[in-house]
Amino acid sequence: MCGIVAYIGNKQAYPFLIKGLQRLEYRGYDSAGVAMIDNGQLNVYKCKGKVIDLHNFIGEQNKGGNIGIGHTRWATHGVPNDVNAHPHYSASKNMVMIHNGIIENYGPLKEELKKRGHVFMSDTDTEVLIHLIEDIQQKENVPLGEAVRIALNQVVGAYAIVILSKDNPDELFAAKKGSPMVIGIGQDEFYIASDATPIVEYTKNVVYLEDEEIAFIERGKELKIKTIKNKAKTPYVQELEMKLEALEKGGYDHFMLKEIYEQPRSIKDSMRGRLSSEQGVVNLGGITEYEQKFLNAKRIIIIACGTSWHAGLVAEYLFEDLARIPVEVEYASEFRYRNPIVYEDDVVIAISQSGETADTLAAIELAKSKGATIIGVCNVVGSSIARATHAGSYTHAGPEIGVASTKAFTAQVTVLTLMALRIAFRKGTISSSRFHQLLSELEAIPAKIERVLQTNDKIKYIADIYKNVSNALYLGRGYSFPVALEGALKLKEISYIHAEGYPAAEMKHGPIALIDEEMPVFVIATKGTSYEKVVSNIQEVKARKGKIIAIVTEGDTQVKAMADYTIEIPETDEILVPLVSVVPLQLLSYHIAVMRGCNVDQPRNLAKSVTVE
Ligand code: G6P
Repeated sequence: MCGIVAYIGNKQAYPFLIKGLQRLEYRGYDSAGVAMIDNGQLNVYKCKGKVIDLHNFIGEQNKGGNIGIGHTRWATHGVPNDVNAHPHYSASKNMVMIHNGIIENYGPLKEELKKRGHVFMSDTDTEVLIHLIEDIQQKENVPLGEAVRIALNQVVGAYAIVILSKDNPDELFAAKKGSPMVIGIGQDEFYIASDATPIVEYTKNVVYLEDEEIAFIERGKELKIKTIKNKAKTPYVQELEMKLEALEKGGYDHFMLKEIYEQPRSIKDSMRGRLSSEQGVVNLGGITEYEQKFLNAKRIIIIACGTSWHAGLVAEYLFEDLARIPVEVEYASEFRYRNPIVYEDDVVIAISQSGETADTLAAIELAKSKGATIIGVCNVVGSSIARATHAGSYTHAGPEIGVASTKAFTAQVTVLTLMALRIAFRKGTISSSRFHQLLSELEAIPAKIERVLQTNDKIKYIADIYKNVSNALYLGRGYSFPVALEGALKLKEISYIHAEGYPAAEMKHGPIALIDEEMPVFVIATKGTSYEKVVSNIQEVKARKGKIIAIVTEGDTQVKAMADYTIEIPETDEILVPLVSVVPLQLLSYHIAVMRGCNVDQPRNLAKSVTVE
């Protein structure tokens, strides 16, 4: 939700700001804005639309200045329009602020300020905060940094803010709570952003600001940090491992397509150094210290949102099947508010690509407060969730830019499979031969995905046939049920076709009423324990004239004879099928969305990193 950038140094700020905002557009893209100080003049430009619209809107106007801030928005308070776009002015218009997050008590603060004569231009919570800060500065007659500190003590909610002031042309003030912020340290210059992607091309040295910390970022001086309770902190400088090439499209039309095609590599990266089928070992260094907690756990609770929640569902099958530990999979947003029962010997696995999802973060804090052990499965290194957990395993899928998650999902499932295998092995709930067989099968998955990717033309052909439907149904059983949910989510996210995922056998308790000759039904009908049952479900659809598009195991004849179209995937162990069967569904959604003229990488109303609840 919203991306923020800022620069102070000897170079022109604007080129970094605009490029940085483009990199952060996955976080929100309904409006954008920048502000720079040039020769004592504060120039603010903002408009509805994407970052490129902002750039075109600024055109030849003055973009000069070597201090500046920028914002790309995902609306929370107030519709996306020019006025609600950030940066927002203070009452005197001498300072501006950008903000990612939600100020929950902005209502009472606004009322209070209105009573004292403040007039607000926008509907945003952000404008209230910058007014409050200036109000405090004037009332208390304190330096701006101190006013920021006092104001933040009055704020309830989440924020990552940067303030630019005409009266302080050599200093930026940044602070965060609940929303991420990274400060890159260059040669006599600082780069600030919501994540490291805009920064990596300029410096590898970064400081991740912690919650309730304020950074005083002064030109030509050392970075200073203090907490909102006025405690000085020593900045902890870390080195970024991210590579610049990973952030480019690399010849693909869209990031989503690139990321789908990256899966053989990203899955290998998820397993690298953790799995050796030859030696018969699975090792997850990040959780070794907490392995005993897993071994003693009477229950695992998985918390996540969106696609990560679907990976959690696959993990439920894996942990119960292999490690014989009961698992509950929870939407983080529900878990956090329903007074859940959490025991001290529960292991909670939090899954998140971005590591910033607000609901997941809050659910972690809740489970932690009840004494449970929290294990993270995150993609973004150093993210808030990765830091909030006791231990964890990174998925190492590399930056995922397309808003619809693809390679992050398969990387999550890979890591969770390794985790379940490791625990099963340690608990002795899996035979040695089955363990070894699964390790070799897992190692063979990337090559099998390569083969699925080679069927792209056929998938595109099928996409063309169904691109104009209004509804679609996705069916699967057992390990393929979460894949059905994920397939449906991919389609609705990026092509805006209404799609539902269902356990195949549940279809007759409702969705079957929707089936007619217009309705495509995508069925995961690979060989395995439920194969015959799924075949019966296919017959039920056919009897109602529904169209069947089936994902089948190579060489299948039975389903092929019934289905309108089939997509073959290489045979693998039943418990690993989701890693392979999801890939054609990702491609199918991708092609349908492109054919419908949709913005695949930035679908309407969505954001990649949901840092608001
Ligand atoms: C958003 C994204 C999804 C993602 C979900 C959870 O809705 O659009 O792709 O699955 O958030 O995000 P996380 O970063 O926690 O995995």
